[in-house]
Amino acid sequence: MPSDEWLDGAQYKRNLSKRRILGLAILQKVVIFGTGVFAEVAHFYLTHDSDYKVVAFTVDRKFIKRKHFLDLPLVPFESVQKTYPPGKFKMFVAVGYKNLNKTRAAKYAEAKSKGYSLITYISSRCVHWGDTKIGDNCFIFENQTIQPFVKIGNDVVIWSGNHIGHHSTIGDHCFISSHVVISGNTKIGSYCFLGVNATLRDGISIAEKCIIGAGALIMRDTKKGTVYIGKAGELYSNDSSKF
Ligand SMILES: CC(C)(COP(=O)(O)OP(=O)(O)OC[C@H]1O[C@@H](n2cnc3c(N)ncnc32)[C@H](O)[C@@H]1OP(=O)(O)O)[C@@H](O)C(=O)NCCC(=O)NCCS
Repeated sequence: MPSDEWLDGAQYKRNLSKRRILGLAILQKVVIFGTGVFAEVAHFYLTHDSDYKVVAFTVDRKFIKRKHFLDLPLVPFESVQKTYPPGKFKMFVAVGYKNLNKTRAAKYAEAKSKGYSLITYISSRCVHWGDTKIGDNCFIFENQTIQPFVKIGNDVVIWSGNHIGHHSTIGDHCFISSHVVISGNTKIGSYCFLGVNATLRDGISIAEKCIIGAGALIMRDTKKGTVYIGKAGELYSNDSSKF
């Protein structure tokens, strides 16, 4: 990870475009695993807001229906190291939360066993203090507030606009969607999924493999493998023409 990723977002972006204009940016070449929505989004963010250059996509051979994706070569994962050797190319596994993140975790492990370094992207518009301990194959979108002393494991996706309170820990292979409030000192076990607008009170532990549904308010520790939901909006007696 380039050390200047820890600059504040705007400064990082200015430095990046200056280096690109001057031809000084050393763009590291990356192959993305996946051809789904997340892969398309990851390609966009890496192209517009990073020192990485996406050069190809890869998926399992049985899923290859064409030779290109987003105008870049699409090659079988089984033999990707022949065309894009791990010594020269890095990889990012862009798979969503399907199967409670286990599909992404499996491909993450396979990519590592093939010898690839897995990149971590942090948006230049993410607010953090530069001391966040963060693993590989993470993708951190814009408008986060990541407070000091936060630790984020490997293969964690943090979609846009979350609050991650001080001293919180997020385990490996988690997916945090958007506008989630993780209060300070919270521990999130591995393979968890947190839906939009979920709220976790401070100091609790979310056990591994939990699903916290959209809008749920969690006030106590959870048990491994459980699902929590909040209360859905109710239909009001008057229709909108009355207002
Ligand atoms: C918790 C969750 C995984 C359950 O999924 P599911 O079992 O497929 O649930 P369904 O959508 O079939 O809903 C079943 C019932 O539970 C209710 N329900 C489901 N999730 C709910 C939630 N988060 N809050 C309140 N009620 C919920 C539904 O309203 C529905 O009620 P009904 O039978 O009275 O109509 C899911 O609803 C959820 O919250 N997903 C997260 C969505 C999200 O954040 N998406 C962003 C992705 S980036």
